[in-house]
Amino acid sequence: MSMLTEDLKAQLLAASLQARTRSHSPYSNYAVGAAVLDEQGRIHLGANMENAAYPQGWCAENSALAAMVMAGGKQAVAVLVTGPGPDVITPCGGCHQKLREFAAPDLLVIAGDPSGIKQEWTLEQLLPNSFGPEHLKI
Ligand code: THU
Repeated sequence: MSMLTEDLKAQLLAASLQARTRSHSPYSNYAVGAAVLDEQGRIHLGANMENAAYPQGWCAENSALAAMVMAGGKQAVAVLVTGPGPDVITPCGGCHQKLREFAAPDLLVIAGDPSGIKQEWTLEQLLPNSFGPEHLKI
């Protein structure tokens, strides 16, 4: 598992909560923020973007991964996802797979809310025996 300093985790939490303020979630009223740390040590932000045509909305992790790729990032090293609390926000199954595309199994997935960090997993713990890009290498 990637080892992150407490200071870096605190930076990711603050960034994720900041991103959460940009959430467009008028239908669920469930604002989510995501902060992705890339292999260059840079932090990329995203929030959930809902849509009047409900299925067209997308998750905060999706936004943050797109921001990372557009900034030239190749690999996510950690992602900190924040919800409203008090229940721990576990990234959805679709986001596990999206993260898998741009991360190693030891990606650190951290859940938090305005009260702080709540829980941590590796991507491997959340999505064991996963299908990934290497399956398509011939
Ligand atoms: N949501 C995320 O942004 N990330 C997750 O991992 C879980 C769910 C969003 C999608 C939707 O806009 C809202 O939370 C309620 O499901």
